[in-house]
Amino acid sequence: MANSSQREKWGSKIGFVLAAAGSAIGLGNIWKFPYVVGQNGGAAFIIIYIICVFAIGLPVIIAEILLGRTTQRNPVGAFKALSNSKFWPYVGAMGVFAGFLILSFYSVVAGWSVGYIYESIAGVFSGFDSPNAAGNHFNQLTSNVYWGIGMLAIFIIISMLFVYAGVQKGIEKGSKILMPLLFILLIIVMIRGLTLEGSNEGLNFLFKPDWSKVSANTILEALGQAFFSLSLGMGAMLTYGSYMSKEDNIPKASLEIVFLDTIIAIIAGVAIFTAVFGTGQNAGEGPGLIFHTLPIVFTKMPGGYFVGIIFFILLTIAALTSSISLLEVVTAYFVDEKKWKRHNAVLVFGFLAFLVGIPSALSFNLMQNSKIFGMNFFDMANYLSSNVMLPLGGMLIALFVGYVWGIDKVLTELKYGSEKLFSKSRWIISVWIILVKYFAPVLIFLVLLQSLGIF
Ligand code: PHE
Repeated sequence: MANSSQREKWGSKIGFVLAAAGSAIGLGNIWKFPYVVGQNGGAAFIIIYIICVFAIGLPVIIAEILLGRTTQRNPVGAFKALSNSKFWPYVGAMGVFAGFLILSFYSVVAGWSVGYIYESIAGVFSGFDSPNAAGNHFNQLTSNVYWGIGMLAIFIIISMLFVYAGVQKGIEKGSKILMPLLFILLIIVMIRGLTLEGSNEGLNFLFKPDWSKVSANTILEALGQAFFSLSLGMGAMLTYGSYMSKEDNIPKASLEIVFLDTIIAIIAGVAIFTAVFGTGQNAGEGPGLIFHTLPIVFTKMPGGYFVGIIFFILLTIAALTSSISLLEVVTAYFVDEKKWKRHNAVLVFGFLAFLVGIPSALSFNLMQNSKIFGMNFFDMANYLSSNVMLPLGGMLIALFVGYVWGIDKVLTELKYGSEKLFSKSRWIISVWIILVKYFAPVLIFLVLLQSLGIF
């Protein structure tokens, strides 16, 4: 087992926050959040989402990072280090599996983004004379088997290169430059969206709640999206936390990660829905949404040619800092627990993720109509991981920290780096304990039962 003194550490205090925000901020914010909002009726969904993020996501992210920092291990090793029971390491193993599954379909969408870098450089968008043209072009590309699988391969290979070389330097340095740049570009796209005629309709859709559209399923979707967007419930935050030192303030870092992740999702929502309504498109489009709408915005804005190129480069990079964290979880597990060489683990699991990604890529063409429970392979992998495995993992992490580990030990560990919070605002810690012990597990449990159709 990798000994904790040999284990790599983040180079700077903000290194962890940047890398973890890099993991959190990705396709979940820019691609998935808008289309899930679109499919679930808009503002009411966003309100439920924000409640899930702060009342459940934030307390669980603190718990997960704490498990990693305390044990300096991968998800399976962390549970082994803290309990003698055979059950808990399986929770870690489910996380590793979920990470692998997410990597497979996530890379399909990230591959589209890679492909769109080329499309934007080639000037394809400027030929779109109607909003439908962008949608048709997207459908044409994704219905091409070779394009889908080729782009998937390119993206996975790039992700593998980073993890193969060791991630810290690349991610830490890269995130510092690229994350703010992504932020600025999103704001530019948002301003362009806001100044389109008809953008008000988009804002109404986003900010005026229509509660009639809310069902129990909306809450499950919001919870799943919160876990997915925060990279929570499968050990990514745990693994990144394992490279952290005891001087770092976990509650503060967690709040920063959660805040950044949420604000980027909202900005992406504004940028995209003002454009969707401003150009007369359909909000409930599904996974193709941003690829249908943004190219139109780019054709209409001054300098749109360049903004389009930079946007898809940044979208790819945002996806990359997330996919690296997914592959890192699987790699850390095989390195720590199975004594594999890092390089071998990356090669084997990168390749396997590519193979498992193929049916997801084919879900937009050859296998479009091969459905299990009404879902194609891509939708199934997406649903199972976000709406089942991540919330289940998050619930079990909360239960472990709340009941199994021992609250005295938990608080001793949490206090390192956040002494001030403990002495000056102790009530925050008490609220956290209540959320982790009662609120988060009970709520997640009810939502999961509902999703299984139990009530
Ligand atoms: N949070 C990432 C995103 O929003 C996806 C992700 C999920 C990454 C789980 C790691 C673990 O794009």
